[in-house]
Amino acid sequence: MKTTLQIEVKKTDHSRIHETDFDNLVFGKVISDHMFVADYVNGEWTDLRIEPYAPLSLNPANATLHYGQSIFEGMKAYKNDNGEILLFRADANQKRLNESAARMCIPELPEEIFMEGLLQLLDLDRNWIPNKPGYSLYIRPFIFATDDYIGVKPSEKYKFMIFTCPVGHYYSKPVAVKVEQHYTRAVEGGTGAAKAAGNYAASLYPALLAQRQGYEQLLWTDGKTHQFIEESGTMNVMFIINNTLITAPTHTGTILKGITRDSVLKIARDWGMQVEERFLSVEELEKAIQQNTLQEAFGTGTAATIAQIYKINIYGTDYGLPSKPADSFSYRVLETLDNIKYGREEDSRGWIIKV
Ligand code: COI
Repeated sequence: MKTTLQIEVKKTDHSRIHETDFDNLVFGKVISDHMFVADYVNGEWTDLRIEPYAPLSLNPANATLHYGQSIFEGMKAYKNDNGEILLFRADANQKRLNESAARMCIPELPEEIFMEGLLQLLDLDRNWIPNKPGYSLYIRPFIFATDDYIGVKPSEKYKFMIFTCPVGHYYSKPVAVKVEQHYTRAVEGGTGAAKAAGNYAASLYPALLAQRQGYEQLLWTDGKTHQFIEESGTMNVMFIINNTLITAPTHTGTILKGITRDSVLKIARDWGMQVEERFLSVEELEKAIQQNTLQEAFGTGTAATIAQIYKINIYGTDYGLPSKPADSFSYRVLETLDNIKYGREEDSRGWIIKV
């Protein structure tokens, strides 16, 4: 991308890379050396810079701390066998960030600031990208309000930042999930489709209750009837029943438009698989388990990749799901996605940017 952007770069004089144990990465704990920052002041994004990763100084009256105007993205970069950096579907994340921004009264961030800031940051911290199978660089772009003001109104000032973390698996083994019958993640007209910090905050308590009972995550249901499956707390969810891939549609505005979700659906359709984007009722899911027609259940997400579900609790009954043959769709689609991300397979869909 041709750009006229001026990005001031201040490099760290103390890289932490040699203190980092790349063999024992805990997801989200290790942060690379630098961060990209831009400020929104007087109606424009300005002061673009890359600087050493460091704490921020915030006033206690900072609007985000009180009213939660904060959105984020998650994406990943990989290293291929030639040491080149492959960035997966960053354009889709950039678009989704601006969709979240519109819903949360946050000003649009120009594509070139997002992309140029990201590419320069990745180039500078390229040594932080792990090159082992299953490992990648998780990238966290986010925008938050920076007005110091007590009162409920959209902030006039914002900060856009990107930092990155070398990571391994988010879920190192299959997960157990529980159908939520009482609490609600999203309702029509709400903010469910936005990647807004507050959505995650609101999900913590119900998820904690489920975790105390031994389930890693919830299967959120619709806010009105709690009879239809929407998504999970950290990922979209998909089911294969009678050879048909079923996942919740996004038109109600209650589902996060997952980029892994979209990628899996595109691959499934390319492979000629029957795909239905529709709400699956809890009753239909339970029947499919009882009648042995549920072949697969899995989550999809940037952090989670393809997370196998081994147990589902439906209204108090635990259903263990049978283990799957090695050529099951979810294994094959994970392998195909990994092959594209690590540059082992041709990127025929234009999903990869080489940095
Ligand atoms: C992601 O998948 O990127 C997310 O933001 C979800 C979170 C569990 C890390």
